[in-house]
Amino acid sequence: EGSGRGWGEFVTVETEDGIAWITLNRPEKQNAINPGIVREMIAVLDAMEEDDSVGVVVITGAGDAFSAGQDLKEYFRVPDAGPPLDRERLYASNAAWQWRRMMYFRKPTIAMVNGWCFGGAFQVLIGCDLAVAADDAVFGLSEINWGIIPAGIVTKSVAEVMSQRDALYYIMTGETFDGRRAKELGLVNIAVPREELRDRTRALAETLKAKNPFVLRAAKTAYHHVKSMSWESALEYLMAKSDATKFRDPEKGDQAGMRQFLDEKSYRPGLQTYER
Ligand code: ACO
Repeated sequence: EGSGRGWGEFVTVETEDGIAWITLNRPEKQNAINPGIVREMIAVLDAMEEDDSVGVVVITGAGDAFSAGQDLKEYFRVPDAGPPLDRERLYASNAAWQWRRMMYFRKPTIAMVNGWCFGGAFQVLIGCDLAVAADDAVFGLSEINWGIIPAGIVTKSVAEVMSQRDALYYIMTGETFDGRRAKELGLVNIAVPREELRDRTRALAETLKAKNPFVLRAAKTAYHHVKSMSWESALEYLMAKSDATKFRDPEKGDQAGMRQFLDEKSYRPGLQTYER
């Protein structure tokens, strides 16, 4: 468990049947993101990406919180008073894992929102591909409540997943909402009673694990790239990416799928994944 590998103090990892359960582990501080979490998450994500036994990553929090956002003391007050270069480095490392690293992470990621989720924690949440929340988890863009704007890249992320009305409403009021509302807002995929949270998350992870991982990676990468492309470029890019993916796919999934459906009639692609 982590020791000597760059994590274990603020972030723990449990690997079970190809699923890495990454837990932000500062329950006494509601898993507020301090420089220690930033450092350890970078190490953990690197390691999970390299570990071939890991198929899917789940990010959650210990105790009552998913995460209470950035640590007001260790991430804001202390660095604000320190050397500007150190502060810039800290902000850059935080952006590195919460945004780029998560968005283009080479394995599927799921946020399991077990409790409080505020401010900067929205970035971790939206940075994951998919999200499952407890019905009674509490979310809030609380920045306005203490006199800052949702920065890092939170406002941009929120604008990607919520409507303009909803995003501005929660950015401007700082009002909290629960897991069920988060589902309505498009912030999470699924909201379930707390006692079902882990099993539902595991079931979703199992679904993802059963897919062709090479193609899953290409599908996710393509999604993020085409969002900002013109229709013309998107078509060219997607066809090229599709050809490259078929060509490079180590298990030649498309061939297996076609054979099993058209020749062997052993499965139906509309209803399940081909036999791998
Ligand atoms: N930064 C630093 N410390 C925090 C944070 C945080 N974001 N959140 C909680 N803590 C600390 C508390 O100061 C307290 O520390 P202490 O025991 O040393 O006094 C400890 O965690 C426990 O928190 P409580 O406030 O006692 O827990 P409670 O259950 O009463 O409330 C709640 C939980 C609602 C999450 C509250 O802690 C809170 O409002 N936290 C701040 C949420 C927030 O606005 N986050 C920042 C968003 S902005 C951004 O991320 C850019």
